[in-house]
Amino acid sequence: MQLGVASSVVRLLIRSAHKGGGGRPRREHGVMKGPDKRSSTQASAAFQSLRLVFVLATVMWASFLYYHFTVLSAGARRATVLDGASADPCRGRYVYVHDLPPRFNADILRGCQNTSDQYRWPDMCGFISNAGLGRALADPLDGDFTGENGWYGTHQFALDAIFHNRMRQYECLTTHSALANAVFVPFYAGFDFVRYHWGYDNATRDAASVELTDWLMRRPEWARMGGRDHFLVAGRTGFDFRRSNNMNPSWGTDLLNMPGGREMSVLVLEVSRVPHSREYAVPYPTYFHPRSDADVRRWQDRVRGLERRSLIAFVGAPRPDNPYNIRQQIIAQCEASDVCRLLGCGFGTSQCHTPGNIMRLFQRATFCLQPPGDSYTRRSAFDSMVAGCIPVFFHPVSAYLQYWWHLPVHHETYSVFIPEDDVRSRNVSIEAVLRAIPPETVERMRDEVIKMIPRLVYADPRSKLETVKDAFDIAVEGIIDKVARARAEAAADESSFSHAMEMFGFRRK
Ligand SMILES: *[C@@H]1O[C@H](CO)[C@@H](O)[C@H](O)[C@H]1NC(C)=O
Ligand SMILES: *[C@@H]1O[C@H](CO)[C@@H](O)[C@H](O)[C@H]1NC(C)=O
Ligand SMILES: *[C@@H]1O[C@H](CO)[C@@H](O)[C@H](O)[C@H]1NC(C)=O
Repeated sequence: MQLGVASSVVRLLIRSAHKGGGGRPRREHGVMKGPDKRSSTQASAAFQSLRLVFVLATVMWASFLYYHFTVLSAGARRATVLDGASADPCRGRYVYVHDLPPRFNADILRGCQNTSDQYRWPDMCGFISNAGLGRALADPLDGDFTGENGWYGTHQFALDAIFHNRMRQYECLTTHSALANAVFVPFYAGFDFVRYHWGYDNATRDAASVELTDWLMRRPEWARMGGRDHFLVAGRTGFDFRRSNNMNPSWGTDLLNMPGGREMSVLVLEVSRVPHSREYAVPYPTYFHPRSDADVRRWQDRVRGLERRSLIAFVGAPRPDNPYNIRQQIIAQCEASDVCRLLGCGFGTSQCHTPGNIMRLFQRATFCLQPPGDSYTRRSAFDSMVAGCIPVFFHPVSAYLQYWWHLPVHHETYSVFIPEDDVRSRNVSIEAVLRAIPPETVERMRDEVIKMIPRLVYADPRSKLETVKDAFDIAVEGIIDKVARARAEAAADESSFSHAMEMFGFRRK
């Protein structure tokens, strides 16, 4: 495009040089005739040669400018757009993706068959198929839960791959890191955790993290903000990457405590709440991965129209070795109630791992109980909300202190809170609490939950939603905002530092 503009400028200049003798005199022809014509021609000749010099100089200047801008073209073009008043829809939203050596992502997936022993992630290869979504569902009991409708047997810890693939569809990618508002590091930290978690020493667990941070810190992109504009996705809990903060000295890698790992922002499924961490919680992946806005709307309409025959549903296993955990009581209360439906996940049963069974239960219930399990958060909370079931939380860390970007600030608009101590110590009846909620309130909460569905699901990374923002979009917006704040803080620090230096008589270059 610039080539076109430049060459037409040159052509225009050349044309006016040719016309130099003709353009003005033609008008003069009509005004002055006869005797004055000769002297006028002499003056005109001198004028014309001067003009020719001028025009040639202009042409050369134009060529120089043209050359200059062509050489700088790619970057300059975008910068011009960014600075210009023209509305660039990507302004402030550019993401640069590091081109990592494959040992940090693709090779980890390629090693998925190395999961033969019982402890490791079983059948990891199946879970990473379909761009990380897992196997397409083909539920014979309910035609809704099929791959064609966007349903997959997605593993709760598969976000590393889903997010990376989803990033390939992001509309504001840039190959010019200097123009990026955030820098994405597609390291599969969660998969790296699982491959060496059991039976390996610290050095082996940390090897990829050490190599990665070493690689990153040598890059020019890192120098720009000391890594504070970088982010990665570690699709597990934050504690899985903070071994030296953990009570168990052999749990996890230490990625987020090492130099390089400390500076980056990291998206996790549950934040560790270690002070000064840059962890941000994003939704667990659910089984639903829409391919279009219409897929989302169709699903929302469907769950809105469903008859909900049970008041309460719970899917989960007890934690018999943890007497402090309230699941035992929850299961006992549910079994004793005739409005509570339970999907047992005890040892040896696979019912509660069958996506169709889970979703069928949730979409027929008004309230879904979400007590803490091994950690505070649960994938199940997101599955239930996708089914239009109002979540009941028992601990604020299970949701309210986690998913700031994705869930409404006013948690009473979409969920019920029953403090776990009320259940544990005071034997509060969950059914009685839920029955006491007026039907209009229940209706309002369910509407809110259904409205939230798009923000809670990760779209199929192989296609693109048109206008609907999914969990990925919300997360990228959140990160870009954090980076912008970090940049502003750094600028403020810098200017107050300069100011202080000047006050003491120093001048900073
Ligand atoms: C699988 O494990 C074996 C032995 O531990 C190792 O030699 C091999 O390189 C691994 N394969 C992949 C693809 O990681
Ligand atoms: C592994 O690392 C943790 C802390 O990161 C440390 O407490 C523990 O002693 C280490 N284990 C060994 C065997 O060195
Ligand atoms: C808890 O309350 C139920 C009735 O709501 C009662 O049947 C049960 O015995 C109580 N349990 C304890 C430990 O008090």
